[in-house]
Amino acid sequence: MLRRLTPDQPESFAFTNANMAWAQEQIKKYPEGRQASAIIPLLWRAQEQEGWLSKPAIEGIADMLGMAYIRALEVATFYFMFQLKPVGSVAHIQICGTTSCMLCGSEDLIAVCQEEINEKPYLPSADGKLSWEEVECLGACTNAPMAQVGKDYYEDLTAESLRGLLKEFAAGKVPTPGPQNGRFAAEPLGGATTLKDRSGEAHNGSVGLAVSIGDSVKRIDGTEVPLWKAPVPVGQQPEGAAAPKPKAETKPAAAPKAKAKPAPKAEEAPAVEYSDDDKPEMLSAPQGAPDDLKKIKGVGPKLEKELNGAGVYHFSQIASWSAKEVAWADDNLLDGFKGRISRDNWVSQAKELAT
Ligand code: FES
Repeated sequence: MLRRLTPDQPESFAFTNANMAWAQEQIKKYPEGRQASAIIPLLWRAQEQEGWLSKPAIEGIADMLGMAYIRALEVATFYFMFQLKPVGSVAHIQICGTTSCMLCGSEDLIAVCQEEINEKPYLPSADGKLSWEEVECLGACTNAPMAQVGKDYYEDLTAESLRGLLKEFAAGKVPTPGPQNGRFAAEPLGGATTLKDRSGEAHNGSVGLAVSIGDSVKRIDGTEVPLWKAPVPVGQQPEGAAAPKPKAETKPAAAPKAKAKPAPKAEEAPAVEYSDDDKPEMLSAPQGAPDDLKKIKGVGPKLEKELNGAGVYHFSQIASWSAKEVAWADDNLLDGFKGRISRDNWVSQAKELAT
């Protein structure tokens, strides 16, 4: 399926302050030079905040991670979970159309969406509140047919029950997720034959947690209670249990066992020693038109700006760097991207680009 950005794009994108603080924390989880690994959580948070992923959001996140825009676009357009055009302002209904769900009636569910929301998938309803799409198996086949709405699953659906759910979403309510036919979880339709004692639990674990968190279709602005701090659903705390303890309070391990000697990192190149004399020659201004340094894999607009600011404008400059100059530049040239130049092999790339 062809996935393209919508031509109607907003002027700009900005994380809320709380989401920006969260994003910075995610970036810190990755080692120096590997910040690009945070791309999926950051794109996902942008979508959670806005409901969909705009071009300014994708490019803004690429800038935050020092990535070329094309690299971030590759990720955003590859994964179907990212919505590349605005979806319903209240809820986007994802109907599973794969085998189990299809055999159990997903085509009827799609017909309801076409009738109640829009004839075509991805397009919003007349009031802009709802949209829908057909998706591949969501792993709840035992409770087919089903749909994902926001973060939660609505299972054991019929055309009537889905119609009712859509009405509730459009009215600003969030119906209880999970099986919609009275089933507790994924037990046989005729009733459980084992594990019958539910000790008064109103919901299965997933539904209980979803109800207690309550963010099924909520836009996330970063001020929400983190998942690990969310209240444990009533009826699911073990007897006498207090609130969940933070990780730090867990008992330290007993006597440490003898540590195995770490295996030598055979493939890791030995560190190149350098001195201040190995700083590569920089230019005070480009000689003629500057090269488009973003053509080097791993260089985005942010890094290009940093390179230009330091006096690097041409492929030929980078192509001429010695191993010691690369080591100096890796450690001193790019703020927060230590090791990027040697890891992405800029010198070889620049040599090819220069010719
Ligand atoms: S086939 Fe629909 S959830 Fe698996």
